[in-house]
Parts: sequence; C-alpha cells; structure tokens
Amino acid sequence: MNVNNAQPTIITIFGGSGDLANRKLVPALYNLFTDEQLPEHFAIIGLGRTSYTNESFRSYLHDGLTEFSRKGKPVAEDWEKFKDNIHYLVSDIDNDESYQNLKSTIEGIEESWGIESNHLFYFAVSPRFIAPIATKIGENKLCIDEHRTRIIVEKPFGNDLESAVKLNNLLKGIFKEEQIYRIDHYLGKEAVQNMLAFRFANILFEPIWNRNYIEHVQITASETVGVEDRGGYYDQAGALKDMIQNHALQLLCFTAMEAPVHFNADEIRNRKVDVLRAIRKFSGKEVFENSTRGQYGKGWIKGKQVAGYREEPKVKKNSSTETFAAIRFFIDNWRWQSVPFYVRTGKCMPEKKSVITIQFRSVPHQMFPNETSDHMLPNRLVIYISPSTGIKIQFQAKKIGLDMQLKPAEFTFDYSGSYEEEQPEAYENLLHDVITGDATLFMRSDEVEEAWKVVMPFVHGWENHPPSSFPNYSAGSWGPEEAEALIAENGFHWISLPTE
Ligand code: BG6
Repeated sequence: MNVNNAQPTIITIFGGSGDLANRKLVPALYNLFTDEQLPEHFAIIGLGRTSYTNESFRSYLHDGLTEFSRKGKPVAEDWEKFKDNIHYLVSDIDNDESYQNLKSTIEGIEESWGIESNHLFYFAVSPRFIAPIATKIGENKLCIDEHRTRIIVEKPFGNDLESAVKLNNLLKGIFKEEQIYRIDHYLGKEAVQNMLAFRFANILFEPIWNRNYIEHVQITASETVGVEDRGGYYDQAGALKDMIQNHALQLLCFTAMEAPVHFNADEIRNRKVDVLRAIRKFSGKEVFENSTRGQYGKGWIKGKQVAGYREEPKVKKNSSTETFAAIRFFIDNWRWQSVPFYVRTGKCMPEKKSVITIQFRSVPHQMFPNETSDHMLPNRLVIYISPSTGIKIQFQAKKIGLDMQLKPAEFTFDYSGSYEEEQPEAYENLLHDVITGDATLFMRSDEVEEAWKVVMPFVHGWENHPPSSFPNYSAGSWGPEEAEALIAENGFHWISLPTE
C-alpha cells in the first residue's frame, strides 16, 4: 500500500527513552517524514521511566538524530515541523494508570485531528517486559479495534522454543496474528529483499539454483564489535540465539526457498517456513559433528587492543557463552538434498560483513589442457548484504594474449553505485510497512517457532557439554581453528572475499 493511502497513525514506543528508539526508530521515522513517507496525520508517543518533559525528550531525540541518522543533523525547518508530533509520558509498565494516561493522550490527539487513527504499539523493551505490557494493553482496552491496532515486537522472540510458544500463545490471546509484527531487522535490508527480485524476476538463475549445479553455500555474518554495553543480555543469549536463530536463518531461507505463487506476505512466509521445516534436525553427536563454537579472547582489531569476552562488563568471568558459531545445515528436500549450507557468525572478527556465497560445481568435462587452466575456478556468485550491497558473479575468461590461457573474471552489480537514491535504513523499510499494514517482512508465529526448532538441538547439546577450551579465538581473527576443520572435512574453505 502507498503511504498516502495509509490511515492517520499514532505510534507509541514502549522504551521510548531507550537506545533503540534513539538510535534507530526515531531516526527512521524522521527520515520517512522528510521523504514524505509518513501519513499526513501522525504522532509519536514515547513511554519510559526517565522523567523527560515533552521538550527535554524532543531535545534528547534531536541529539540522537544528529549522531545516528544517516542524514545527520536535522534541517532546522524540517525538525520544527516534526518535533511537534512527539510526546512523552513518564510511565510505569506495571501500573494501569500509565495505560489510562496513554489512552487519554491518544484520544486527545485524535480529537485534535478530528479523525480516528491507527494505533501502533512498539515494544522497544527488554524481552521480559513484552508479556506484561501486552497484557496491560489488553486489560486497559487499548486494542479493542483489531483493524486499527498493531503491535511490533523486537527480537529475541522468546529465549527457546518453549518460551517462544508461550509468548505466541499469550499474544494471540490478546491480538490477532495479523496484528502482530515480529521484527527481524535483516528483512528490512535492501539487499535481502533484492534476493527475491534477483531469484524470481530473472530467468537466468533459477534453472541452476539447485543441487545439480550448486556445490555448497556459505553464509557469513561477521562483526568487528564485541558485546559493547550489552554484556548482560548477550551472556544469556550467545551467537546462536542472537544471530543464527533469526538473521542467519532468514538469509538461508531467502537463498533456499521455492518460488512463491504471489508476492504477498503469507505466500512468502509459507515458502520460508517450508525451508525451516526441511532443515535437518540433528540429534546426539550429530550436533557436534556439524557445528563448532567459539569465544573471543583478547586481541587486536584495526590497530586497537581489545579485551577478551570474559573481561567485558556484565559478563561472567567463567562464561561459557559462545561469541562465534559455525554450523553445517542440510535441507532435506528435492532441490537441496546433500548440499551443505555453512553458516557462521561471530563478534570481534577482522571485518564486518554479511554475505552469501553460492559456490557452483566444476564444469563436467575439462577440455582445456592443464597448463592453460591453472587458475580455473568454478563459478561463484556472491551476494553482499551489508555493509556493501551488491552481487558479484565470478566466471572464467580468456586472458588477453596469443595463447589460450584462462583466468577468473567477474561481473559486479553495486547497489549503491547503480541507483541515485540513498538506501533507506532497515528500520525505515520496516516501519513504513507496519504503517501501511504489509507484514511480508515480519516473522509469522509458526516461522519463529520453526526457527527455534532448528537451533534447539544446538542449544541443548551445547548447554549439556560446556566448552573446555574457551576462549578459543583471538579478537581480530576469523574464529577458532575448529571452524576451518568443519568446512575442510568436505574439501572446502571459508571464503573471505574482500567486501568491495
Ligand atoms: C542484532 C544483534 O540483532 O544484530 C546484535 O542483537 C548484532 O548483536 C546486530 O550486532 C547486527 O546487525 P547488523 O545490521 O549490524 O548486521
């Protein structure tokens, strides 16, 4: 739906004074506003414990925009128009009075507009507050009109399969599934969405997108940062729950899914759920045969000395939490039988990049003499998700010269170089879609639960067998040696291509 047809909208942010609102949500809303992508009538209500006034809250958000928005410091004239739509309520999430206060604020705004609006409730809070806030929204009758109310829930959705099911059941007792928007911000990334266009709007790739032509797939989501100030959360989660259960599996789904019949939310999500259901569920020693984990010790990143994970604030001194995980998945269906999908993610690695590499098989017959094809490599397709966005196809070409000598060459599609428009941030795409009521880029309840089913064998296996060798990789390296061994078993190696 075009935003011009979107209803007037009031966005309530629980956790309004927190980091997510300041760094991501408000900058995204502001950019949508300046790009004329917000409805004519809109308001933002921040809720939090910090005792801001409307004025001091606005000035705090202005500083946040200056620091974190992709557009930098707001243009004074735009900010003046935007800021009047921002309100702040000091609140206590356990107290009904806060919800009644919110209700009358919403009604007051609608009265001043003389028009009814859609109500979005964004849960930008720690996961343990989601259930109590949702319950209070229900009890205080803030969601009686199911067509006008939507909630947005941040990841992590649950801490394991059981808690995710419980949370889904609780939310579904208060809201309809269509009202619940579960965020995985990777789905808001342009390059992830482009995978649908690349695969299903072109005839070239789909015929070879299968086990007959693809040897293996690698998905890397590496980061140079450590846990920063999130040690308390991260030590409970680890790389498996923080990155693999959601972001990495989503990338895998977009790579492996069948073609949807229509471009709509349920069709696309059905095809992704099919992939998750087909991923082999390991048991017993298979868990360890197909995975490896790591934790960073001290080291150097970009010329700076970095502390080890166990020295990070709010992390247990003897923590067994993994900051690196590598897993070999198999998808048991007709298209992908026996094709390994290697997924790895880690903190404190040499480079920040999210990238998918499709490694094709060698040509069936080698007609070139060995001496001409020394450097011959099978075709490779690399999809850069972030920070650079684009696609690279590697192929063989004849080297210029009198002899027939082969050498690898490549075609590159650079997203940022190919279009004039600046790419919206993931949260801009996602908030735009919630406002217009498009759930395609959000996780459905069954999808979240299937993703948990995929990782639960690792959660249990790793919990029951704490690692003995942590820390086992230095900050600034590509992870533990075991990760190399995991992929080398099949005669492959991790491809660490430069991101440019
Ligand atoms: C978040 C994780 O969901 O994704 C973080 O909780 C991680 O630990 C982040 O740093 C990575 O996102 P991006 O967009 O920077 O790749």
